[in-house]
Amino acid sequence: MAESKAESQHSGKKGFNGATAGHGFLAQIGTHFKNWWWLYLIVFIAVVLAVVPPIVFVAYPRIAQGDINDSTLEVTQMKITDPKPDSAQLDLTQVIGTHSSFHPTLYGFNASVSLAGSSSPFSSIYVPGVQPEGETVVNITRRLQWSNETAFTEYVKAVWLNEQVQLNIYGKPELKEGGLPTITVAYNKTVTMKGLNSLKGLNITNFSVLLSQQSDGSNAKGTVNVPNPSVMTIELGNLTMDLSVDGTPIGQSHFYNMSLVPGNNVIPMTSTVNESVVASILYAKDSPYTTGILPINIRGNKTVYNGQELPYFSEALASSNLTVNVDVGKALRDLGTV
Ligand SMILES: *[C@@H]1O[C@H](CO)[C@@H](O)[C@H](O)[C@H]1NC(C)=O
Ligand SMILES: *[C@@H]1O[C@H](CO)[C@@H](O)[C@H](O)[C@H]1NC(C)=O
Ligand SMILES: *[C@@H]1O[C@H](CO)[C@@H](O)[C@H](O)[C@H]1NC(C)=O
Ligand SMILES: *[C@@H]1O[C@H](CO)[C@@H](O)[C@H](O)[C@H]1NC(C)=O
Ligand SMILES: *[C@@H]1O[C@H](CO)[C@@H](O)[C@H](O)[C@H]1NC(C)=O
Ligand SMILES: *[C@@H]1O[C@H](CO)[C@@H](O)[C@H](O)[C@H]1NC(C)=O
Ligand SMILES: *[C@@H]1O[C@H](CO)[C@@H](O)[C@H](O)[C@H]1NC(C)=O
Ligand SMILES: *[C@@H]1O[C@H](CO)[C@@H](O)[C@H](O)[C@H]1NC(C)=O
Ligand SMILES: *[C@@H]1O[C@H](CO)[C@@H](O)[C@H](O)[C@H]1NC(C)=O
Ligand SMILES: *[C@@H]1O[C@H](CO)[C@@H](O)[C@H](O)[C@H]1NC(C)=O
Ligand SMILES: *[C@@H]1O[C@H](CO)[C@@H](O)[C@H](O)[C@H]1NC(C)=O
Ligand SMILES: *[C@@H]1O[C@H](CO)[C@@H](O)[C@H](O)[C@H]1NC(C)=O
Repeated sequence: MAESKAESQHSGKKGFNGATAGHGFLAQIGTHFKNWWWLYLIVFIAVVLAVVPPIVFVAYPRIAQGDINDSTLEVTQMKITDPKPDSAQLDLTQVIGTHSSFHPTLYGFNASVSLAGSSSPFSSIYVPGVQPEGETVVNITRRLQWSNETAFTEYVKAVWLNEQVQLNIYGKPELKEGGLPTITVAYNKTVTMKGLNSLKGLNITNFSVLLSQQSDGSNAKGTVNVPNPSVMTIELGNLTMDLSVDGTPIGQSHFYNMSLVPGNNVIPMTSTVNESVVASILYAKDSPYTTGILPINIRGNKTVYNGQELPYFSEALASSNLTVNVDVGKALRDLGTV
């Protein structure tokens, strides 16, 4: 009985002793911290200083740059209007696409625009700030100044002649995510756009020779169908084109206030043709054109807008080599001259 009591006492004491031991340990830790807290604080700060900067200054910029690299850029509309020799009005709609879960603020920046592969930008454009999320539509309305006319002429030529054109947009925008610091990233995107593809599919219908000369000196007219497979609207102005058959000049065509919109363009044309030269080609003894259908080569001569020649359009148009079959024989027969 006593034994058992002692036993129980012992065990009770044992339990009590154990509890004091635990309490003592905590107290020891408490004392330890009381004395050494400053060391722990220094170690904690050191760890924070060692871990946070790599996150803020290495991982965050890398993730942000990676997201910028992965983002897409598409131009859904481009209008070039009111052209002058050194500038034009630009209305652009672009779509920035991102799958990132970060939605940083991308501040407005000046981007240089160039034909992909060219080291010379032709203009600088201010891209307004955005917070890209999913697909973000950005409208840019600006007067664009050519920083390098040669480079711009190369771009216009590429648009005029090719099925596809690649435009490079480069800049160094500032970016900020939440409470993290503002950083600078590189924005380097190449957009592939459809070009005018040498006006492939252009045809001239309704060609007729006029009895009397018009006020602009023309003596023929017709309707031109110009397909524009691109998303570009281009205001060209007054165009003069040189016409020839097998290298023999036969006259010129004029297009007034010409503007190309996406899709098919039906444009009235007036022409000044040397009828005696045309007749001599059609009715020569060994003429291959007895049906009256002439393969007329059309080449740009000049482009004038509000009285000023636009060399970049003139050159692009002069670089295209277009041959259209026109039923000139019918036009002459309709006139009753032959
Ligand atoms: C972003 O792309 C550039 C090349 O365009 C490359 O040099 C860079 O390493 C890329 N950065 C990231 C974080 O993917
Ligand atoms: C962009 O360029 C214009 C003119 O050169 C300048 O006034 C403007 O401050 C620039 N903007 C930025 C965000 O760099
Ligand atoms: C951008 O421009 C297009 C076409 O002009 C218009 O339909 C659209 O509402 C504009 N979007 C924004 C965000 O301004
Ligand atoms: C303008 O662009 C042309 C063609 O891309 C290039 O050869 C020339 O060096 C550029 N001029 C300047 C001043 O950058
Ligand atoms: C942009 O990227 C292209 C292709 O990735 C590269 O050739 C070009 O040098 C880059 N531009 C700049 C200014 O870094
Ligand atoms: C001329 O082009 C238009 C539009 O592409 C087309 O509808 C028409 O049939 C063509 N006419 C001739 C005679 O080829
Ligand atoms: C063809 O020309 C005639 C006479 O100028 C005009 O009445 C007709 O509308 C024109 N047709 C087309 C398709 O342009
Ligand atoms: C071209 O536009 C000008 C100014 O808008 C106008 O005065 C002229 O009559 C137009 N010419 C033709 C042929 O449409
Ligand atoms: C047409 O061409 C012939 C031969 O080149 C030339 O003698 C004549 O003056 C030209 N006529 C007109 C109206 O230009
Ligand atoms: C444009 O036409 C004029 C007059 O017909 C001619 O003298 C000139 O050489 C032509 N220019 C080009 C680039 O073909
Ligand atoms: C085109 O020429 C016509 C007649 O000379 C003129 O009235 C019109 O203003 C010109 N259009 C442009 C865009 O310069
Ligand atoms: C235009 O193309 C034809 C063949 O398509 C070629 O015979 C002619 O020499 C070319 N002319 C020019 C000026 O390039």
